[in-house]
Amino acid sequence: MNADHQNADHQAVTVIGLGSMGSALAAALLDRGHPTTVWNRSADKARPLADRGARPAATPGEAVAASPLVVACVLDYEALRTVLDPVADTLAGKVLVNLTSGSPEQAQEMAVWARSQGADYLDGAIMTTPPGVGSPEMMFLYSGAHGVFEAHRPTLAALGDPLYLSDDPGIASLYDAALLGLMWSTMAGWLHGTALVGAEKTPATAFTPVALRWLTAVAGFLTTYAPQVDAGRYPGDDATIDVQIAAIEHLLHAAASRGVDNALPELLKSTMEQARAAGHGSSSFAGVIEVLRKPAADQ
Ligand SMILES: NC(=O)c1ccc[n+]([C@@H]2O[C@H](COP(=O)([O-])OP(=O)(O)OC[C@H]3O[C@@H](n4cnc5c(N)ncnc54)[C@H](OP(=O)(O)O)[C@@H]3O)[C@@H](O)[C@H]2O)c1
Repeated sequence: MNADHQNADHQAVTVIGLGSMGSALAAALLDRGHPTTVWNRSADKARPLADRGARPAATPGEAVAASPLVVACVLDYEALRTVLDPVADTLAGKVLVNLTSGSPEQAQEMAVWARSQGADYLDGAIMTTPPGVGSPEMMFLYSGAHGVFEAHRPTLAALGDPLYLSDDPGIASLYDAALLGLMWSTMAGWLHGTALVGAEKTPATAFTPVALRWLTAVAGFLTTYAPQVDAGRYPGDDATIDVQIAAIEHLLHAAASRGVDNALPELLKSTMEQARAAGHGSSSFAGVIEVLRKPAADQ
């Protein structure tokens, strides 16, 4: 049990949206002893939570009225406005914590809308899948008014480790997009490697522990390169882009010879070649950022 858990005030919470994620959020709140009111468009999804002690609300208005803190997690922002617009007058004095995925701009618009109804607003991003909800290992990113976040941190800790980012409500969604991009690149690279060694009968379960050790080393490279990116200087004193362009040829050759698709490493090679063409051949890999950032006129 962590400190936040022990200090939680067992504030009453409403959860709107009981899909896979919303149901997990409500269950985590119930597990931590929060009186939890739930509402979902399809009412049947409230039943398993009611069996665990949740109070199903008959309407969204009743759901919002039931608790000072309202956690929303539906498909998208449009769906959320469909639910909340007709009951907007019940939001005054409430805190709306929106964990629905969306763009930074949608989060900023939702914050303006919530404030115009007299509600405080936090936007959040859930960095796990439903089975991870409730684990203190899992990050929940938040942006919006810092005082509102701090006031509700103990309750939000029931869902996962709450990480506050910014008073700009769009920043949690921006990090979410950035981190999902990192996840997809990492998983695609792992699957490419798995296909490559699999062509020589190595099972994924044998390759993956080695891949995980390598990712620990890669995490160290990111730590080294982050200050280089911030400084705009990329000393190639560990491994240069020129050297890595030569090395990626071995990956392309090994994969092509074994019938493994090379679209992903071809893209990576071409990006490194652009960096070399821009004068960064002797830079560290961090120099690639110079070709990823588009000049303002191109945006
Ligand atoms: N699942 C994950 O691993 C995960 C991880 C991070 C973030 N998220 C985000 O969490 C949100 C919910 O995801 P999920 O996995 O729970 O999806 P889901 O299981 O498909 O649930 C979707 C929810 O949205 C509701 N909904 C959809 N359209 C609606 C509308 N027009 N009006 C009212 N309610 C509507 C659904 O109600 P009905 O039951 O009536 O259809 C349901 O409660 C998404 O924004 C997703 O990106 C999910």
